[in-house]
Amino acid sequence: MNIPPRHPHRVGAALPAKGRTWAAISADLQEMKAGDPDWKGGRLPALTYFLDEATYEVQGQAYQRFISEPVGFPSSGRMLQEIFSMALPLFAAPEEAGASFTTGGTESVFQAIKTARGRTRDLRNDRYGRFNIVAPETAHPCLDKAAELMDIEVRRVAVDDERRGHAASVQAAMDDRTMMVYASAPCYPFGVFDRIEELGALAQSAGVWLHVDACWGGFLAPFAKKLGRPIPRWDFSVAGVSSISADLHKFGYAPKGASLVMYRDAAVQRYERFEFSNWPRGSYVSPSFLGTKPAGAVASAWSVLQFLGEEGFMGATAKVLEATARLVAGVNAIPGLRCVEPAGECAIVVFESTDAGVDITAVAERLLARGWVRGQMREPRGIHQGVNPAHLESMGDYLRELADATEYVRANRVTGKFNEHTY
Ligand SMILES: Cc1ncc(COP(=O)(O)O)c(C=O)c1O
Repeated sequence: MNIPPRHPHRVGAALPAKGRTWAAISADLQEMKAGDPDWKGGRLPALTYFLDEATYEVQGQAYQRFISEPVGFPSSGRMLQEIFSMALPLFAAPEEAGASFTTGGTESVFQAIKTARGRTRDLRNDRYGRFNIVAPETAHPCLDKAAELMDIEVRRVAVDDERRGHAASVQAAMDDRTMMVYASAPCYPFGVFDRIEELGALAQSAGVWLHVDACWGGFLAPFAKKLGRPIPRWDFSVAGVSSISADLHKFGYAPKGASLVMYRDAAVQRYERFEFSNWPRGSYVSPSFLGTKPAGAVASAWSVLQFLGEEGFMGATAKVLEATARLVAGVNAIPGLRCVEPAGECAIVVFESTDAGVDITAVAERLLARGWVRGQMREPRGIHQGVNPAHLESMGDYLRELADATEYVRANRVTGKFNEHTY
């Protein structure tokens, strides 16, 4: 994603010899913020998920109330249990399922892999061997980050003509060192669901773990399905799905630092925990990657779930779906542009140029110059955009600017310089 340059730092600023007033600091913060993208106004394609001011207010107030507390007090223990009880049924989790609260998609995926590796080591009585994970090539890089940390090989395999991960190509890459099959619901590059029913059957017959990364779609897909959208089966109702990651800080409308990793069987969570006692202080147990965890994130996520309720999530999801449908139709109506199909399955849209005279990178640059930050896609060369409720109101303006930018690039034969940076 091409975020405009941040506000220049005060190069060389040192720790002030004397503390400054909050009024002065606050003014500085405000000034720095003024250079950021207008994310509430729908000008950012991902990273922020803005529903409305009322929800934003609840987020902030709840966080503030627990701002310095760690997770571990009775209050956060109760809120965590209630978050799990509110969330698990959305994913068709069985009675014996368990969950952990983490700081984001990356940590949730890390935890799922650590848990799966611990269990695989036990089941195969193999503590030191190197395992592998087979994943469609569209899997999020947090998989590779976790695998690098845990010295696990990742085998990325081809997707089908709808860009969905599927059993045949995954199976061809599996061997007796495979500990996990990885699938996305949906994948970040194209917003399509992998063929999770097929992958579940494969994982079950091979006796390996299937992790479903629903970091993006976890808090969208259940409500989209209730709204009648044709969402493929992907959750714990699919036999073979062992764990699911779903981010509260995306479409759960919680502030940053909130995600869930859920397990079909809570018994496996003994592999998730880190336990240590070989030092003078005593035994140390931590449920996930972080040591001290922020209770503010828990309080805020709990409060937003309570504030929105099912009705609020249905309304938010309806906005996302409407904005996505308008984006797809609007892009396809602009001469020289076309959405990559299947388009808009789960709030991610990629579009490309169909006209040799329209350089799509130049279109992205033109949009950026007008304050519309949009992601650049490498393969196929295109523009990548996630959709959240904030995009609905600005969609008309955006489509007009997109049509203008496309026309400008065509008329002036502008070419752009592709920017590899994802985010
Ligand atoms: C499918 C998917 N998985 C994982 C992640 C990583 O999440 P985070 O940035 O919260 O670590 C993302 C982020 O966009 C995602 O879309």
